Amino acid sequence: MHTGEQYHQFFLSSRRDLAVRDRFQQAVLGRVAKGAELLDFGAGTGIDAKAYASNNHRTYVYEPSPSMRAHLEVYCRDEIANGSVIGIDADLPCRVDAVVANFAVLNHIADHAPLFAQLHAVVKPGGFVFASLLNPYFLGDAKYGWWRKNLLNLFRHGSYSFDTESGIHRFAPRLLARAAAPHFRLERWLPRRLGVLTDPYLFMRFRRA
Ligand SMILES: C[S@@+](CC[C@H](N)C(=O)[O-])C[C@H]1O[C@@H](n2cnc3c(N)ncnc32)[C@H](O)[C@@H]1O
Repeated sequence: MHTGEQYHQFFLSSRRDLAVRDRFQQAVLGRVAKGAELLDFGAGTGIDAKAYASNNHRTYVYEPSPSMRAHLEVYCRDEIANGSVIGIDADLPCRVDAVVANFAVLNHIADHAPLFAQLHAVVKPGGFVFASLLNPYFLGDAKYGWWRKNLLNLFRHGSYSFDTESGIHRFAPRLLARAAAPHFRLERWLPRRLGVLTDPYLFMRFRRA
């Protein structure tokens, strides 16, 4: 189990993860209007929230882990003080242009239908949810027994989970699309073609219906 501090240091020192994070942030910033407000759902230690706030996007943050949240409160103390980062609870009391969930937040949740129903009230009309999820087809995981053992489950049921400390589930995009409807429509997901096998993360954008 990582503490917020360990997580933070690890993610800021991994070049591969920094590159993925940068791609995610650029995809968000390239899609929102000037001054748009965001909710960072499962905000971790606030790495993305700080970046969005520095681009003049007020960012609400929801983070259930006390250890992650404690580190966020230190890392984003200036932004919290000036109101550009705002911590909120699980009721998600905010109204935003986009909800973002970077680095496998949605993999912690077994059933997304109630979440998308809740986010429908949070996202303004025309807004979107943008998430990065662990890619269940990633061939780099084929060295693990759990990956090979669950391939059939993935193709049959569109998802699987197995006993891990973190309680991670893996999903085919069609399963999320089904959970999001009728509140959100899966508008785009990446990568396509060969990238489906070589990229560890899926980026998925759901447009509010
Ligand atoms: C790998 S971390 C990613 C954190 C952050 N988004 C980032 O980019 O660094 C996954 C996060 O999901 C959070 N999480 C776990 N279950 C959650 C849930 N049900 N709702 C919201 N966040 C959750 C964890 O506490 C953790 O901070």
